[in-house]
Amino acid sequence: MKKTIAITGGSSGIGYETARALARMGHRVVVLARNPDKGKQACDAIGTEGRKPELVVAELSSQASIRRAAEQILRDFDPVDVLIHNAGAWYSDFVLTEDGVERMLAVNHLAGFLLGHLLLPSLVRSGRGRIITVSSDSHFHGKMHWDDLQLSRNYHGLRAYAQSKLANVLFTYELDRRLKQRGLPVSTYAVQPGLVKTDIGVKHTISLHALAWKIRRLGGVSPEKGAETSVYLASSGDVALQSGLYWDKCKPKASSRDSHNEEYGRRLWEISEKLCGINDYFTGTAGS
Ligand SMILES: NC(=O)c1ccc[n+]([C@@H]2O[C@H](COP(=O)([O-])OP(=O)(O)OC[C@H]3O[C@@H](n4cnc5c(N)ncnc54)[C@H](OP(=O)(O)O)[C@@H]3O)[C@@H](O)[C@H]2O)c1
Repeated sequence: MKKTIAITGGSSGIGYETARALARMGHRVVVLARNPDKGKQACDAIGTEGRKPELVVAELSSQASIRRAAEQILRDFDPVDVLIHNAGAWYSDFVLTEDGVERMLAVNHLAGFLLGHLLLPSLVRSGRGRIITVSSDSHFHGKMHWDDLQLSRNYHGLRAYAQSKLANVLFTYELDRRLKQRGLPVSTYAVQPGLVKTDIGVKHTISLHALAWKIRRLGGVSPEKGAETSVYLASSGDVALQSGLYWDKCKPKASSRDSHNEEYGRRLWEISEKLCGINDYFTGTAGS
C-alpha cells in the first residue's frame, strides 16, 4: 500500500537518496528543504524516475519556519504515514538560532522533536504512523552536558554533534515509551546510516574540519547505500511492531549505555518541550 512520507533534508546526500528510492516505489514523498531552488531541482530530478515528490520549504533552525511547514503539510498531505527526520548538520562554530538555541542542537535534534509533535495527530490518523530519526554511531562518543546542554562555555563541533546524535536516540526511546503508555498507533526508530560519502562535513566547517571530513569520508559508502535502512523502515511491513530500537543495515543493533538511561530521556524531553514552547506534546491525539 502506498504511503505519504515526509522527509527533512531531502535535497541532498542520504535524504535525497531516501526520497528517490521511496518515490521509485510509488510512495507520495514530501521533501522538506531549506533552499527552494535546490529543493525543486531535487524533486524534478527524482520525478524523472519515479513519482515526483512534493516540496515544502523549511529552514529547520527556525521554529517559526518549522511550524509553517507543518501547517502546510497538515493542510495539503494529511494523513502523513511516515516522518523521517533525516536533516543534519555539522557546524564548526557556536551560533545561536533566532530562537536562542545552539544551532546543532536545534537542527539535529529539536527540529525533529518539534515536527514530530506538530505532525503527530496526522501520524495517529494514519493508523500506521512511523517516526524515523537519522542518528549516528557518533552517539557512542556522545555525552549529555546537562549543566550546559548548548555548550555555550565549551563548544566544539565534535562534542556538539555527538551529543545531538545521542539526543536522537534518547528521543526515539522516550517517544516510544510515551506512545506505548498512551496506546497510540505510531512506531519510532533511530537509524545509523553508516559512514557515507556526503558533503555534511564541508558545508558549515572551517577548512581544517572540512579537510578532516574529506579524508574520513573516503572510506564511506555511497549515499544510496546509506539510505537503505531509512528506506526499509519507512516502507517495510515487517517492522511495525519493532518500535523503539536503534537500526543499522536494516537490523536492530545495540546502542550506547547512556541512550538507555530513562532519566536522561525524561530530562531531555522536558528541556526540549521548554525550548520549543510545547505544553502537551500529545495534544490533538487521543493520548493527550
Ligand atoms: N554522512 C555520514 O557519514 C553520516 C553518518 C552518520 C549519520 N549521518 C546523518 O545523516 C543525516 C543526513 O546527512 P548527510 O550525510 O546526507 O548530509 P548532507 O548531504 O549534508 O544532507 C543533510 C541534509 O540536511 C539539510 N539541512 C541541513 N541543515 C538544514 C537546515 N538548517 N534547515 C533545513 N535543512 C537542513 C541539508 O540541506 P541542503 O541540501 O540545503 O544542504 C541536506 O539536505 C544527518 O542527520 C547526519 O547526521 C551522516
